[in-house]
Amino acid sequence: MCGIIGYVGKTPCVEFIFEGLKKLEYRGYDSSGIAVYDSGHLHLIKKPGKIKNLQPYLGSLPSAASSGMGHTRWATHGEPSELNAHPHMEQGISVVHNGILENYKELKIELMREGAVFQSDTDTEVMVHLLARELAYVKDPKKAILNIVPRLEGAFAFGIMFADYPDTVYLVKQASPLVVGLGEGESFFASDALALLGHCKNYVYLEDAQIAELKSSGLQLYNFHGVQAEFEVTQIDEAAFSVDKGGFHHYMRKEISEQSRIIAAAIAKYLGPGSLESWADVLDKLPAKGKIAVHEQTPVYIVGCGTAYYAGMLGKYLIESLTAVQVQVELASEFRYRQPKLRAGAIAIAVTQSGETADTLAAVQYAKRQGATVYSLCNVEHSSIVRESEVFIPLGCGAEIGVASTKAFTAMVFNFYLLSWVVASQFESVAQSPAEELRSLPLLLERIQAMDAQIEQVAKQIVEASSCIYMGRGHHFPLACEGALKLKELSYIHAEGYAGGELKHGPIALIDRSMFVVALVPRCDGYDKMVSNIQEVIAREGRVIAVGAEDDRQLQEMVEYYIPSPQVDDPALQAILTAVVLQLFAYYVAVHRGTDVDQPRNLAKSVTVE
Ligand code: G6P
Repeated sequence: MCGIIGYVGKTPCVEFIFEGLKKLEYRGYDSSGIAVYDSGHLHLIKKPGKIKNLQPYLGSLPSAASSGMGHTRWATHGEPSELNAHPHMEQGISVVHNGILENYKELKIELMREGAVFQSDTDTEVMVHLLARELAYVKDPKKAILNIVPRLEGAFAFGIMFADYPDTVYLVKQASPLVVGLGEGESFFASDALALLGHCKNYVYLEDAQIAELKSSGLQLYNFHGVQAEFEVTQIDEAAFSVDKGGFHHYMRKEISEQSRIIAAAIAKYLGPGSLESWADVLDKLPAKGKIAVHEQTPVYIVGCGTAYYAGMLGKYLIESLTAVQVQVELASEFRYRQPKLRAGAIAIAVTQSGETADTLAAVQYAKRQGATVYSLCNVEHSSIVRESEVFIPLGCGAEIGVASTKAFTAMVFNFYLLSWVVASQFESVAQSPAEELRSLPLLLERIQAMDAQIEQVAKQIVEASSCIYMGRGHHFPLACEGALKLKELSYIHAEGYAGGELKHGPIALIDRSMFVVALVPRCDGYDKMVSNIQEVIAREGRVIAVGAEDDRQLQEMVEYYIPSPQVDDPALQAILTAVVLQLFAYYVAVHRGTDVDQPRNLAKSVTVE
């Protein structure tokens, strides 16, 4: 949610900042801007829309500038316009911001009373005016920042440059991510290390309530009381961040295609090539950090947002179907404010692709305050949520760039699958291990890729639809929700997911000739009941698209459109197969509606504000 990148060094940096912004565009794409320092002045360009809109204006910045910062915005306060774009600049001070200043209104009123004139509708601009006012008194940028931070409420990662203090950028972090990259005689910073890869080897992740003074010669860190802080230097495995489209038109399509390989790699890593002797061996290999220990009485809370929340719902189904452990799955945004009293020994499992989602992070911090042990299923090893976790289970699916999550979802479900078996194996009454079916998964996922054209044909049929219902039972209920989320994110068609049994409790009132119903009808999850639900829809002239077994002729003849999918007996593994079918379906609906598949309107991949 907003991307920040910057450089302080000896080499011209405009191109580096522009290229870095493109790598951060997944964080927001409403507007962008760059500020650089040269010969005693700050120079600025900003434009609304995608980052490519900046390109024609790069030449207006001084080409020799060797310190600067850029910002790509996901609008919170104020429309996406040039005036509201960052950096904001006033009186030789420039600021970029990721986050929300929750008390900006009262600060703005105070500043306006003193004569400050605001150019934008943003919350961020108060920071520029606060700094100008404070600097006039204390004549020291670090002191000015230290005096201001106690007045700021909310979440913020700031980059700050001063025309009078060259070769220095100040960073301030509270609840929004910032990483510094250290090179030889040059320093870098960004919201995500992804944008710095290839430029430096050593990284420092800022902690909350820290201020960084970054110069070409290196980094000094302080807490909000001005006390110097130690920092840990981390190296990053660059191979995990491959970010090309691999010959596909869209990142999303490439990421869908990667799922078979990712799951094959996870099977090889955790289960090895032979027959599975013991889940205890898997347990030893599963977490990259910490030790999984769940007892039958352990209260387990799963927290996540969006797609990750639906993966969490499946996690609950998986753990509860194999063990007597009680699992509660919670929207992180509700959990953090609902303030449940967690019982002693509770485990909170955070599910998150990015590891930076503000609500999930706050839910984790709440759970920790309540004494819970935090586990995370996450795709980004050095993220804030992983750093807050005692146990980290890596999703291991490489950088996911498409804003709508695909491979991270199936990796989450797959890891919950392993986790549920590992937990079950710690009790005596574990059922027959499903390792053989598990091993068939990569090949079946390959088969789905080969059904691409068939799925696309059906997807074309709903291009003009305005609304769509997804329904499924058992493990396919969370999938119905996730399938509907994918469709609305990508194609802007209104879609909702329902449990098949809930249809008659309200949603059936919506059924008429204009309503498409995507029915998930694998052989394993309430098949007969789903067939009855389909009949109920057809009787009211609803238009059914069924996703079912390749050889289910009876079902195929019953419905208007049919998408065949390979079948397995285990409903959890079937859910992974169906998920990929639904991803391809949503993808092709979006392609044929001509929407922006990788960067759908109004969304951002990493939601670091509430
Ligand atoms: C955003 C993204 C979704 C994602 C959700 C949670 O809304 O657009 O695709 O599912 O955030 O993100 P996380 O990184 O925590 O999985």
